[in-house]
Amino acid sequence: MKIAVLPGDGIGPEIIEQAVRVLQSLDEQFELETAPVGGAGYEAHGHPLPDGTLKLAQEADAVLFGAVGDWKYDTLDRPLRPEQAILGLRKNLKLFANLRPAILYPELAGASTLKPEVVSGLDILIIRELTGDIYFGQPRGVRIAVDGPFKGEREGFDTMRYAEPEIRRIAHVGFQAAQKRGKRLTSVDKANVLETFQFWKDIVTDVHKEYPDVALDHMYVDNAAMQLVRAPKKFDVIVTGNMFGDILSDAAAMLTGSIGMLPSASLDAANKGLYEPSHGSAPDIAGKGVANPLATILSAAMMLRYSLDRAEQADRIEAAVKKVLASGLRTPDIYEEGTTRVGTREMGDAVVKALAA
Ligand code: IPM
Ligand code: MG
Repeated sequence: MKIAVLPGDGIGPEIIEQAVRVLQSLDEQFELETAPVGGAGYEAHGHPLPDGTLKLAQEADAVLFGAVGDWKYDTLDRPLRPEQAILGLRKNLKLFANLRPAILYPELAGASTLKPEVVSGLDILIIRELTGDIYFGQPRGVRIAVDGPFKGEREGFDTMRYAEPEIRRIAHVGFQAAQKRGKRLTSVDKANVLETFQFWKDIVTDVHKEYPDVALDHMYVDNAAMQLVRAPKKFDVIVTGNMFGDILSDAAAMLTGSIGMLPSASLDAANKGLYEPSHGSAPDIAGKGVANPLATILSAAMMLRYSLDRAEQADRIEAAVKKVLASGLRTPDIYEEGTTRVGTREMGDAVVKALAA
C-alpha cells in the first residue's frame, strides 16, 4: 500500500508531520512518499500541481493532503495559484464524492458558538459533489456582453451544469451513506430558481426508488443554511452540488466550534481517495507550532477506513483521539479554561502514546 503525502503550504507541513507519525506508529507500515503541492509546488517546480506530484497521486493507493494557499500567491495568474492544485487533483483523479462529517465531540460542546443544547451530540455528514457544477462548467471568463441591459459592457460569467450520470452517481453515494447511518437523506438544491437544480431534484427523486428504506427530503439551499444553524441535529446526511456544498460544509464545520477537528474524504468510483482536513492552510499561524493536527490525524483514519480497507486501524486512531481529548489536552483553537493547552507536536505525541497504550 502506497500513500502519497502532499503537505502543501501554511500549517500543512506541521499537521501532516503529526499524521505521518501516527501512521508510522501503527503495526503495519505503509509506503509513504512526499511531494510538493500548492505554493510549495510552485516554488519547487513553477506549478501548483507539478507533473511528478500528479503522477505520484495517480499511482498511489491514497493521497494524504495537508492544505494549500498563502496570501503571497494571490497575485499570481489563476492557473498558477495554489488552489488550482486541489482542483486539478479532484479533476484528474475523478474524485467526485466529497464526504465532510461534522461531529461534535462531547468534550468540546463549549467550543461551539451555538448553544450547547442546539449542537451537543451533533453528527451529520455532508456529501458534496466535487467535479461538476459552476466550478468546472465551460464556458467561463470575461467578455463583452452581447445582450441584456448591459449590452456592450464587460461581464464576468461562469456556467452551472450537471450531467445526469453525475447527479445519479453522487445521489447513490448519498443514499448508501444514509443507509449506513440514520437512513435520512436531505438533497439540497435551488430548484425554485435554477434549471440545473430542478434537474438535480428530479434525478435524485428518481434514484430514491432504489432506496425505499431511506427517507428523502428536498430543501432549498437558503433554507438549508438557516436550518443548519437553527436545528442542525435534524439532519442526518445532506447531499448537494459543488458550490452549495462548499458553502454549507463550512457552516456545518463551524457548528462544532472547531474546524480544526474535522477530516474529509474525496473519493472516486473505486473508493480511491484524497484525505484532507476541512480547514485551510492558516498562513497566519504557520510555523508557530500551535495548529491543531487532529483533523489531519482523523483524515488519516478515514483514509485507512475508506481507501485502504483497514477499518480496525481507523477505529484505533479515532479512539486514541477521543482519549486524548478526554484527558484534557487542547490546542489553542479548542482551548477552554480548565483544560491543558498544548502545541501541534505535543498533541501528536499524545495520540501516538494513546495508540501504544
Ligand atoms: C474547499 C475549498 C476549495 C473549494 C478551494 C480551496 C478551491 O474551499 O475544499 O472547500 O472551493 O472547493
Ligand atoms: Mg470551501
